[in-house]
Amino acid sequence: MIPSLCLYLEYALGPKTSLDVRRVRMRRFPCLVLILLANVLGFAQGQSSPGVLPYKSPALPVEQRVQDLLGRMTLEEKVAMLSGADWMQSVANERLGIPSIKMADGPLGIRSWSGPSSQTNAPGARVEIKTTSFPVGVAMAATWDPEVVQAEGRAIAQELKALGRDMILGPTVNINRTPLWGRNFEGYGEDPYLTSRLGVAYIKGVQGEGVIATVKHFAANNQEFERHRVNAKIDERALQEIYFPAFKTAIQEAGVWSVMSAYNKLNDLYCAENPFLLTDTLRKQWGFKGFVVSDWGSTYSTANTVNAGMDLEMPGGDPMKLWLKNPRAQAAGNSGGWLTSEKVQTEISLGKISKDTVDESIGRILRVMFISGMFDHPHFATGEVDTPEQQAVARKAATESIVLLKNAEALLPLNSSKIHSIVVIGPNAAVARTGGGGSSLVHPKYSISPLKGIQDRAGSQIQVGNVLGVSMENEDQSKDTPAMREQLLNEAVSTASKADVAIVVVGRSSALESEGFDIKALDLPPGQDEMIQAVAKANKNTIVVINAGGPVFMGKWIEQVPAVLHMWYGGQEGGNAIASILFGDANPSGKLPVSFVRRWEDSPAYGHYPGENLQVEYAEGIYVGYRYFDKRNVEPLFPFGYGLSYTTFAYSELKVSPGRKTDQPVEVSLRVRNTGPRSGAEVVELYVHDGHSSVDRPIKELKSFRRVNLAPKETQTVRFTLDRSAFAYYSIAKKDWVVEPGQFEILVGASSRDIRLKTVVNVGK
Ligand code: BGC
Repeated sequence: MIPSLCLYLEYALGPKTSLDVRRVRMRRFPCLVLILLANVLGFAQGQSSPGVLPYKSPALPVEQRVQDLLGRMTLEEKVAMLSGADWMQSVANERLGIPSIKMADGPLGIRSWSGPSSQTNAPGARVEIKTTSFPVGVAMAATWDPEVVQAEGRAIAQELKALGRDMILGPTVNINRTPLWGRNFEGYGEDPYLTSRLGVAYIKGVQGEGVIATVKHFAANNQEFERHRVNAKIDERALQEIYFPAFKTAIQEAGVWSVMSAYNKLNDLYCAENPFLLTDTLRKQWGFKGFVVSDWGSTYSTANTVNAGMDLEMPGGDPMKLWLKNPRAQAAGNSGGWLTSEKVQTEISLGKISKDTVDESIGRILRVMFISGMFDHPHFATGEVDTPEQQAVARKAATESIVLLKNAEALLPLNSSKIHSIVVIGPNAAVARTGGGGSSLVHPKYSISPLKGIQDRAGSQIQVGNVLGVSMENEDQSKDTPAMREQLLNEAVSTASKADVAIVVVGRSSALESEGFDIKALDLPPGQDEMIQAVAKANKNTIVVINAGGPVFMGKWIEQVPAVLHMWYGGQEGGNAIASILFGDANPSGKLPVSFVRRWEDSPAYGHYPGENLQVEYAEGIYVGYRYFDKRNVEPLFPFGYGLSYTTFAYSELKVSPGRKTDQPVEVSLRVRNTGPRSGAEVVELYVHDGHSSVDRPIKELKSFRRVNLAPKETQTVRFTLDRSAFAYYSIAKKDWVVEPGQFEILVGASSRDIRLKTVVNVGK
């Protein structure tokens, strides 16, 4: 009873997100008092209680339990735990009652764990696991709302527990270096600060439920092209300032329990056997105490992998062997089976791996199992998934994520009392495209297409029609003949010309935008541009809705249409969300987490992607995304942080304190007023500019943001606290973060190119 009371107290005293032993001990303080009391009363449990092995006693400190259990394990038993049991489980130990860690992908909901996504997502695959499909990562980032991301993490963890699993393979925090990365939809965009805040929120949501989160893919998995073989050459400053921050905060702020290494090489070494990454950076610099899991099929050696700090190789067992025999898996470059008991034992006997190293790895895995509660509160598959609460989170996130890119003559929101007919056209109109392809694709119980969402919202007063206009690339050969294409286009034009409003839903599909390969081009798939042009000619009230994982080129038609929205892949509630925005039930408040380029040549990575001879030089260094557009004076089509609204906001009274040369945090405040006619949220973005730096620095860098909900005429004071990190750059010479004392500019605005207020602050060392 006392141990359970202690555990309850641990939960009640705050989320168990940190592996920091001191904090664990502090949380345990009240428990120790209780145990002492219980001892006095004569019913203490734990070590002293006969028959209870110390590692099984929740009342004992985690470190003691880890050491006790390690001491009871044979070397063989430890070595067996270094590689997986099957596709998504670690090895259990029946003799000692060590459970297996049951995993699932992640991060946008829960995908079936029965095999690789090529199997579980294949057409006609037997789909056993249906769960809530949340908007993709880039959409979650477009909300700029850590609260909704945390709610998503919590919901996913609750579903995971309900399915009897323990660990989610997410969040993905790799930076969108190039708009052609096939997996751009999964990450949180181009900015390290925004990505960090959302990564922390997701992990807190997951781990607050006692479920293991896995931040991935460490590090620099920024392209799918040759992801198993490519060597990313990145200088130390770019790593520290752009590619590492979200991993660092995941560890230091969210206390993430697991890190997944990436497929690629980083500066000549595979990430799974890279001591700079897995030992020096993760553990020595950042203090990570959890375990590292390999990406599926990313290991190439035994001793080098274990010695670099890789703790758990996945997948394992027969599923791994079978998979690696598959010629397609081989051709892609998958490799594995290096940490099998046999291979590790051989290296131990040759003296290439020490027993202490094995102890460290297994200790890390066990520590996470104890801290996450796996020994004390196993997850029995008894709960429900896709509850109304979880659906509500998916809907809220999808609605908040939609970005209004253009709204000439205030065509939007639609005035339902004046409209009698709408036609919804396009290859993404009647199909709910909930996510991109690959391991993150979730099979929901239901999903709402834009057409269905619009029909349901429009009600019986408005007639809603639908035509295809053009079929999605590679989706239906029968509709892809010249004659059929012409017929579909004519149909679109003729229906559009008769309707009050034409809503054209275009974009990509999960077959075109996916893990495993990069996007061919930023143009919309064949026929879609022409279809938009033709419809826009036929109906002046043409609204374009983009349903894709990132930027697309719009140059051929953007001047010809009055309104454009980006809905990303909005998960199962995407259709309802776009309907609420179109009809003005919700105010569009999403802002772009990635810059939209006019032409591919304008991209920071242009000329240095996808590399040559399997070498990709990150020659743009720290100048990724808006940092590049600012520095090189390139006008993007839509800048980072951009998004329109149905209402207007006025910014005033920007103040900073203390504004003197101290090491104290800088407090910034301003007033934001909703000056328009509707309620809505505004994302206020704060950038810092260092004008006196001795090194090259970006023109501005996002260092804080706040999403505020305001009723018409309402004003709120928005406050930010900037600590030292907001002013620092990474010095390669000093191998440390440096703040050069002096005057910094604070820029506050509605996008990276719409700075409304500026001030300066003096900052000390
Ligand atoms: C992906 C990971 C995923 C793993 C397991 C890999 O191909 O890169 O993100 O978690 O498969 O499905």
